[in-house]
Amino acid sequence: MKKWLLFGFICVFGNVHAEGENLEQYTTSVYTDHVQHFHKLFKQKKISTFLEFGLGEGTKYFVQHCDRVISVELLCSDDRSWFERCQKELIDYSNWEGIFVQAPDIIKEANRVAHAPGNLLSKISYLKELRDLCDEIFAQFSLDTIDLVFVDLDIHLRGDLVNIMMEKNIPIVAAHDTNPPIHSHRFDKVTSHPQYKVFHFSKGAGLTLWVRKDCHDVIRCLQKTDCIPNGFKK
Ligand SMILES: C[S@@+](CC[C@H](N)C(=O)[O-])C[C@H]1O[C@@H](n2cnc3c(N)ncnc32)[C@H](O)[C@@H]1O
Repeated sequence: MKKWLLFGFICVFGNVHAEGENLEQYTTSVYTDHVQHFHKLFKQKKISTFLEFGLGEGTKYFVQHCDRVISVELLCSDDRSWFERCQKELIDYSNWEGIFVQAPDIIKEANRVAHAPGNLLSKISYLKELRDLCDEIFAQFSLDTIDLVFVDLDIHLRGDLVNIMMEKNIPIVAAHDTNPPIHSHRFDKVTSHPQYKVFHFSKGAGLTLWVRKDCHDVIRCLQKTDCIPNGFKK
């Protein structure tokens, strides 16, 4: 009996301690303050295949909580140093795979003018190229298996990527840094999609989730958290 009590104590204390320690480490960095919000969802709902645009310290949390994690490093340069540094840290996780993609010139140009005065972005035709690029990336695995796409990359066209993921019918689309000013990553470009409900976590830099309306279990889980339904403000 004593042995079982001791075993139970070690399991419960060990788990709480480990979770608390890890979350604190993630919450104190602006790069990873989204983890505290994902944690609320993951505690209730298993996310099997997780795809992220942009990788970093938070990826370690994802590989520890999801069955499969695909990290896409989509950059406007050929600088692989950050990708390779993360690769070294993640190499022991057999459920992780990384893809490095250098954006074509038209995406580089769109990224460059994303913040320029005079709404230059609307004068460039780059969306077809961005869609084609996503198709090339997705051709490397079965799109049907992706449960969640997380948009947190170093390119400002995050709003467009959120739209493309909803067009692709991804069950859950998430994006980081969605607190105002939303212009900085061009989240002003996100369009409302009739098949999706929006949930917003405002703590930190902000995490917004667009959840397909038929994912009733995910919606129920989110409603039990401190997120704000329709709380993403354009
Ligand atoms: C905000 S970070 C991605 C964070 C990632 N989603 C996470 O959870 O850790 C976005 C991009 O910034 C770039 N980056 C460069 N230096 C970085 C650094 N020291 N920490 C994090 N990201 C860095 C990388 O290209 C990376 O993909």
